[in-house]
Amino acid sequence: MNRLASKVAVITGGASGIGRAAVEKFVAEGARVAIWDVNEQAGQELEARFPDQTAFFKVDTSRADAVEDATAQTLDKFTTVDILINNAGITRDATIKKMTHEQWDQVISINLTGVFNCVKAISPVMIAAGSGRIINTSSVVGVYGNFGQTNYAATKSGVIGMSKTLAKELGKHGITVNAVAPGFIATDMVRAMPQKVIDMMEGKTPLGRLGEPSDIANAYTFLASEEASFISGSVLSVDGAVTL
Ligand code: NAI
Repeated sequence: MNRLASKVAVITGGASGIGRAAVEKFVAEGARVAIWDVNEQAGQELEARFPDQTAFFKVDTSRADAVEDATAQTLDKFTTVDILINNAGITRDATIKKMTHEQWDQVISINLTGVFNCVKAISPVMIAAGSGRIINTSSVVGVYGNFGQTNYAATKSGVIGMSKTLAKELGKHGITVNAVAPGFIATDMVRAMPQKVIDMMEGKTPLGRLGEPSDIANAYTFLASEEASFISGSVLSVDGAVTL
């Protein structure tokens, strides 16, 4: 507890799923959190649960101007940003035969350009402070590929390349940059799948279960904590060994 006391975090996609679990965990660890999300209702509900420690900002991370505005508003509210969790992400699945250019562009703009926009806007704050933590959400799919996810896999591989490059560029400013690669996590998206598919995923996972959003939130917390101060440029798999 209180591993993130006095820290300020921006969590993109923080209104639901893994991001919401991360907001809850960061608050429990003493951080103040700016929730950046397009889902206004869910974001405001979460803010209402933790009015003293969170603030919701409606922002589409794929738009550079919106991210710059949200950065200014977050700094007005919390003065600084110590931790950036680039967690927002979408899927638009189809095989290459059926995937449209629009599906390709949507996924690239949120999962990849969105990460670039947020790092571009927030890293100067961390450079000025001489410290910071950037954690980017990749996926096992970014390492191994996945049927029907050419667009998504490209972005999640891209996030790994970005994280390693940023770790090299920003290390001299005391900023660590890491990626987390979740396996199958029981968010609403996965829970809505047919039970047969869920059983198949669990069967493929040596630990015999889907991951919980809190499993990923715990990994974010570790990488954001003092304990991880010499870890940078790494890709932390949190997948129950599904990829072995
Ligand atoms: P989710 O769909 O439950 O939550 C994603 C959040 O991002 C939502 O609140 C949504 O409103 C927000 N969002 C979407 N587009 C946005 C935008 N342009 N700007 C700001 N916010 C936006 O998804 P989940 O499952 O929590 O995923 C979180 C991250 O974890 C994503 O990057 C996803 O790719 C990654 N991931 C998830 C896995 C899973 O099994 N659930 C597995 C591997 C990676």
